[in-house]
Amino acid sequence: CKEFPVVVVVVGASGDLARKKTLPALFSLFYHNLLPLSFAVVGYARSKLSVEEFRSSVSSNLVCRVGDRECCEAKTRAFLERCFYFSGQYGSLEDWLNFDRWLSEDIEPRMNQSDTATRGARRAPGRLFYLAIPPSVFAETLRSISRGAMAPEELGAWTRVIVEKPFGRDSESYMALRDLVAECFPEEALYRIDHYVGKPLVANLTTLRLGNFVFDALWNRHCIESVQVVFKEDFGVEGRAGYFDAYGIIRDILQNHLLQVLSIIAMDPPASPHAADINEAKLRLLYDIKPLHAKDFIIGQYDRYRSERGVPKDSCTATFAACVVQIDNERWRGVPFVMLAGKALDERKVYVKVAFHETPNHTFIPEELRDKRNTFYIEIQPRPAVELSFITKTPDLEGRVVQTKLDLVYNESFSAEAQDMPDAYERLISDAIVGDRTLFISDAQISRAWELFDPALKELERDPPVQPVIYPYGSKGPILPETLIKKYMAGRMQD
Ligand code: BG6
Repeated sequence: CKEFPVVVVVVGASGDLARKKTLPALFSLFYHNLLPLSFAVVGYARSKLSVEEFRSSVSSNLVCRVGDRECCEAKTRAFLERCFYFSGQYGSLEDWLNFDRWLSEDIEPRMNQSDTATRGARRAPGRLFYLAIPPSVFAETLRSISRGAMAPEELGAWTRVIVEKPFGRDSESYMALRDLVAECFPEEALYRIDHYVGKPLVANLTTLRLGNFVFDALWNRHCIESVQVVFKEDFGVEGRAGYFDAYGIIRDILQNHLLQVLSIIAMDPPASPHAADINEAKLRLLYDIKPLHAKDFIIGQYDRYRSERGVPKDSCTATFAACVVQIDNERWRGVPFVMLAGKALDERKVYVKVAFHETPNHTFIPEELRDKRNTFYIEIQPRPAVELSFITKTPDLEGRVVQTKLDLVYNESFSAEAQDMPDAYERLISDAIVGDRTLFISDAQISRAWELFDPALKELERDPPVQPVIYPYGSKGPILPETLIKKYMAGRMQD
């Protein structure tokens, strides 16, 4: 794949996502020699920028995680030399036709000449369009790209598009968007990112579960009592009020990031590690989940939210949501899966916690520890770690029985590798370049995800909407996952 020349076109190159995530991720891939030998990065946006201005804005966000200064500077210079810029309107066919001419006459020939490894290869570069633009302009942009700027298939070149959520606000709007996009690109050309799936600990979940007998053998309702998938942020909407108020935490985090993590945790073992089998296993699991209703949720809003700039004074948008998901299959029937996400909470942390059933034999456990469970805890961020808690005796004469844990903290156990831990976007962009779809979200998964959340969203947003519980900024939020599990077990969700 390294032999195959590629142009990555970052559409919306002057926006936040491109500057903070996409372009630094491309640089990091280049730094680690993971990009094709012949590649170019082209920024496309409305702002009128010279190539020097573009390069200077790109360079301000580039970071070398490892290596010395000299190497970092040399690599940065070499990367910036491969960055170009084109100014155009997103939906203008004329601008994309001009872009196509400029790219194929000015940039692509230069790429092949400057890289000895591909000189004479006579292959037109593949084109990977990364859409870092608002969803409102997705459809018109894709339509114009498909008519004006596709890579020449006759010269063996592919065209791929990376798109990122939001994919609609509900089933209806998603399907309308999907149909528009399908007129321009086949499903195989679309790479839908959920960046949580690219995080190292999430990408490792399948191996942890299925590569270890101890977990694989216990991974069912006979051994597991409950599962929590929790996302906590210690800041509010921070300048994204316009977007956030229209979507809310359920659409922003639960319907995509947390549901993806949950489906990897709960799916039946896929037939192989290949994309098609993993996606099929996830989809089967999504169909075993019971659609969610308002009664399954506790929603909250942090107390300062309505005074944030851009938020209506009477907004009922949830900044916190917790729900119990029920999976109606042989493996999981009766096990509550809690999904909880909140902004402006007491800490920034994302984790999965699997609690096993109470130990049936109490003979060796003192009274005060009987409500403790063996738990398998996976911290996705900020301190990637895997921990197993268990009951043991202290080694002194007293020999007290205590709960302790076996842990694998990445920064300690993989100290060299952890320093160089890639950002989720690096893995995903690199996979899209080589055409590996394993970590991308299929149309069928998104459709089903909306089907699961539609009923609850409709009920919560009815007129008048359900009022969220107000919680103090920086607090633990209106409910803890453990409390929600207890309520569910006691059949008292609405109390
Ligand atoms: C985004 C959400 O998808 O994920 C944001 O829109 C959220 O609201 C962000 O802050 C969290 O991502 P990460 O990688 O910083 O945990």
